[in-house]
Amino acid sequence: MKRILLCSSMLALLLFVVTSCIKFEEDLDQAVVAPNLPEEAYDYASLAQEIDEKILTNTFGDNSFEVFSPNKMPVNNEQATLGRVLFYDQQLSLNNAVSCASCHQQEKAFADSKAASTGFGGKVTPRNSMSLVNVRANNNLFWDSRVSQLEHLILEPIQNHVEMGMESVEQLEQKLAKVDYYPVLFEKAYGSRHITGERIAQSVSQFLASIASTDAKIDRVKEGTTSFTALEQLGHDLFMSARTKCASCHAGANFSAPDFPGGEYGDNSFFGSNGGAKGTANIGLNVIYEDNGRSDGKFKIPSLRNIGLTAPYMHDGRFQTLQEVVDHYDRNIQPHEDLDDKFLDSRGEPLRLNLSDLEKQALVAFLHTLTDENLTSDVRYSNPFKN
Ligand code: HEC
Ligand code: HEC
Repeated sequence: MKRILLCSSMLALLLFVVTSCIKFEEDLDQAVVAPNLPEEAYDYASLAQEIDEKILTNTFGDNSFEVFSPNKMPVNNEQATLGRVLFYDQQLSLNNAVSCASCHQQEKAFADSKAASTGFGGKVTPRNSMSLVNVRANNNLFWDSRVSQLEHLILEPIQNHVEMGMESVEQLEQKLAKVDYYPVLFEKAYGSRHITGERIAQSVSQFLASIASTDAKIDRVKEGTTSFTALEQLGHDLFMSARTKCASCHAGANFSAPDFPGGEYGDNSFFGSNGGAKGTANIGLNVIYEDNGRSDGKFKIPSLRNIGLTAPYMHDGRFQTLQEVVDHYDRNIQPHEDLDDKFLDSRGEPLRLNLSDLEKQALVAFLHTLTDENLTSDVRYSNPFKN
């Protein structure tokens, strides 16, 4: 009798274990929640237009110029919506654990807070993640400016074995075709359920090309609706001055590379000839570079918009604070045969600015006026899987 009881209770236990396993597997399948999207697509086209009007054609400081951008693409609201979902979807990675947004976070102006980011299976990226704001106005992408067009870039991180680990575009297309919400979203965006790498690249590009930052304090000062504090004004004047030369590299309304064709940091290769600085410069971070960037220690001159949100700084995330960045330009520029001429004094030695403490504080205060608070809260850029 005892034996039968024991056996049957063991059987019951076994049954319980088996059924709960089956149930657990069902849960796993169902764990793929559908994105929460608005009835009518958000307006991305007008965001893109704002960038065209205020960043690509607006003028700032003495070094203003009209920006040419290969990423000034038309934006369709349904396609950008699909792009938003793809950007936040962990299923774009081989282990369903990494999305673009893992390393490009809205609250950090689409950068992250680590020197090196963690991607697929805990592997770390060799470089610091980059902010994805006003990329529409960007001529040159990645720290070494190796890509010009967003659409050529999107499938790179997905297949990068450190970042998202997918083996091929075909594997990605097949995987997404099996997720319930994608065929519908592709239909809305493209009029057919067909999922292709090209459509993925195009829709994510459109989402990125409409991430706008045009309403920082500096923009409102320029419009005349607010004014700088005395400290910010001092920082502004220093930034724009021939003494610091900051604005000659971080130029125009996007405070980014003056990389128009034929310019000092021009993009010559875009029109067929090879080479070209492509918006990069050597700023004397090292005597010897392990990571040579584009070549000879040259790295992309990044936009400084929202720089207050994207610490740590530089291609390798070596500086924790803006104070440390300013200290670098003030007195730590290292000698290098390819050091940018702007950092050489009359004897050909690395320039020392000898800024006072107040002047350094002022530069930092000015850099904080480039932060756009709307960017971090705008629902159009937010995670659709989380609300
Ligand atoms: C594991 C972290 C990680 C993931 C995931 C990731 N990125 Fe990045 N992203 C980076 C890093 C690091 C860089 C700089 C790489 C370099 O310069 O070589 C970068 C650079 C970029 C740039 C260039 C920005 C500029 O202004 O030059 C774009 C655009 C971009 N990523 C988009 C994406 C998209 C789209 C996805 C998803 C499909 C994605 N990233 C996924 C870490 C990541
Ligand atoms: C010769 C061109 C040049 C000049 C002049 C210049 N910069 Fe830069 N700046 C760069 C480049 C290139 C980088 C990226 C370097 C790297 O990561 O290796 C950079 C990076 C930065 C960063 C960090 C950006 C990030 O996303 O991590 C800040 C902040 C910055 N500069 C501020 C300034 C200030 C303030 C001045 C004036 C004191 C200045 N820059 C002068 C070219 C320049």
